[in-house]
Amino acid sequence: MKIRIATIAGAVLMAGMLHAQNNNPAPQLGKASIDEVISAMTLEEKAKLLVGDHEFDYYVNGTVKDEIPDIAGTSAAIPRLGIPVTYYTDGPAGVNIAPTRKGTDKTFYCTAFPVATMLASTWNPGLVHQVGEAIGNEALEYGCDVVLAPAINLHRNPLCGRNFEYYSEDPVLIGKTASAMISGIQSNGVGTSLKHFAANNQETFRRENDSRISQRALRELYLRGFEIAVRESHPWTIMSAYNLINGTACSESYKLLTTILRDEWGFNGFVMTDWVRLQIRDIATQIHAGNEMMMPGYPEQIDQVVAAVKEGRLAEADLDLAVKRMLEVIVRTPRFKGYKFSNDPDLAAHAEITRTAANEGIILLKNEGSTLPLSDKSTKIALFGCGSYDLFAGGLGSGEVNAAKIVNIDEGLRNYGFSLNKELESIYQGMKQEIGISPKYAALRAEDSDVAIVTIRRNAGEYVDRRAIKGDFYLDDVETYLLKNVSEAFHARGKKVIVILNTGGVIETASWKDLADAIVLPWQPGVEGGNTIADILTGKVNPSGKLTMTWPVEYMDIPSSKNFPYDFEGNSWKAGPVRDSFDPNKRNIGFTEYEEGIWVGYRYFSTYKIPVSFPFGYGLSYTTFSYSEPKVRLGKKGLWEASVKVTNTGSVSGKEVVELYVTAPESKMEKPVRELKAFGKTGELAPGESQTVTLTFTTDDLASFDEARNCWVTDAGTYEVHFAASSDDLRQSVPIKVRKSSVRTVLTKLD
Ligand code: GLC
Repeated sequence: MKIRIATIAGAVLMAGMLHAQNNNPAPQLGKASIDEVISAMTLEEKAKLLVGDHEFDYYVNGTVKDEIPDIAGTSAAIPRLGIPVTYYTDGPAGVNIAPTRKGTDKTFYCTAFPVATMLASTWNPGLVHQVGEAIGNEALEYGCDVVLAPAINLHRNPLCGRNFEYYSEDPVLIGKTASAMISGIQSNGVGTSLKHFAANNQETFRRENDSRISQRALRELYLRGFEIAVRESHPWTIMSAYNLINGTACSESYKLLTTILRDEWGFNGFVMTDWVRLQIRDIATQIHAGNEMMMPGYPEQIDQVVAAVKEGRLAEADLDLAVKRMLEVIVRTPRFKGYKFSNDPDLAAHAEITRTAANEGIILLKNEGSTLPLSDKSTKIALFGCGSYDLFAGGLGSGEVNAAKIVNIDEGLRNYGFSLNKELESIYQGMKQEIGISPKYAALRAEDSDVAIVTIRRNAGEYVDRRAIKGDFYLDDVETYLLKNVSEAFHARGKKVIVILNTGGVIETASWKDLADAIVLPWQPGVEGGNTIADILTGKVNPSGKLTMTWPVEYMDIPSSKNFPYDFEGNSWKAGPVRDSFDPNKRNIGFTEYEEGIWVGYRYFSTYKIPVSFPFGYGLSYTTFSYSEPKVRLGKKGLWEASVKVTNTGSVSGKEVVELYVTAPESKMEKPVRELKAFGKTGELAPGESQTVTLTFTTDDLASFDEARNCWVTDAGTYEVHFAASSDDLRQSVPIKVRKSSVRTVLTKLD
């Protein structure tokens, strides 16, 4: 009897609850206001939303966490409030997900686009925008909501393992290129995550290393690219960097993530951490600082958030603000909008975009006696080097892409109808280790071939920095032996030698570049690599790329060389698993002194007239260009309008990058001899054709950062505006007068 009554009572209670629930259903995201949804959330649900969901070894709220295998991260679903899982995929060179899945023979290959450095080398934001559109479309059609890109840390030192994922040594080129990429990706209705904010300029112990940087270098170099990108393109999210800046972890820095990023620059999305290991940072400090989401996320972190609120270490208002910022992005995602993704992006169209972008990112570094282009298809080519048959299409780590096929150089040349030496092809097939070519063998090939092509390749990536030793920054003995013997043999018979540099970063060139008649830099060009390179070698496309960083004579010429995780015995530290050698008090390991301050790249080499092998902004064409009729005038709203007429004075059509540098008047602050303030690219100019290129910049853009007064200062005085073909090739100059000085204070210091 008792049981019956209990059952009846239970049924009545349940009916009552259901009745109440039906009468007051939980507010649904997108129907109710975000504030109403937040007010209906439990503390546990709020905590769960802020902690990434992808490392958990269980189904998440009934949602199959592995809907997209190998995706970098997800956010938690809260179905009762209509909050879906959202998906975050790497990376800067394309969507990084597993190409196959259990239970289906359908594949999920992606397009490996040209690496970031190569995209920046186009100096063509319009083209970068197109690549962004394609990357964003691929992410959309594979069911992703945010692309964890672009990565825009400044090329402080060529040994940084991830420089291939980054754009340049100059913050204006970084910022403008990043803005184009962000706008391109986001034009699909998917988000981006501008990373790694900030000053993550080495891989060695990146999670613990303290970047010790002056305020001026921070503002003028390491923050400036992020500032331009945030102000101009409004990324949905930002990824805080692993490292510290001047003793404070980026993901815990209120000054960085709220005062600068939001209060000064107007960022209105949310910040996620990089893929931090548990227990390195304090979660309450992070959320208060303005780092909303913890990636990849661990279950313990949910408990940590709940405990922090209950113990009063984290204000519920801060928690609610973080949840609000996340929900404001989630409602914009395709997943929330119920977009029916196809899992079938147009990879063929994206391959074509890759080829077009790579064509404009390839840089012609040398072309003695018009060695190139090879216009005669009957030319017999002796193709040397492993990279000729096994191209590095991209770099290593989270920035990798699983592409179905990469077109190698030999294939690209054969596609054009060239005949390649068969014996060399058989020697190099499957060869992973470079081989030396003896003088005798080189002579054989020089007899039966018309031209030699030698590919030198390098790869690097996340977790480990490069090494300033033979075989990485420097050629190794085998490569030197190969190049020397091929050069001697072919030159002895009046035949030419072309070197191709398939690399994601700078290498030493001064000691051997005389051995080559032509040097072509295709970086890591993505899936269409071999076809792109052939396009340039045959002259189908006239190269128009220019360097986005300085190529020094020696590694030790670089101002940051002694303040980088590389000891003078020529060994760099292994990052990542080598945990026991971490020492917080060891230079370049526990902390890195950015002792060089603003003297990075051309700012240093041009100002102090230090010889370089190839300067910033340098790149040759198969034609020539003249610059004339330079004009600079102050237009409306303090906008300077600078124009110059560019004429194709050669015999083939081509595009020219125009770089605008400004020299400031004498000042009590030491300033670089000139700094890039704007750039542009002509369309394809036929021989004899001209185009007037108009560039703009503001008076504020001319400011330097005054540490003593913690403000940007534009001095009054006469500035020289230079129209240039490289940082050391000034073609036309025009003086302009800034009548009165101006000061813009900033809200904080990162000290
Ligand atoms: C890595 C990288 C970051 C990447 C993330 C997800 O640690 O630093 O660039 O987006 O984890 O893979």
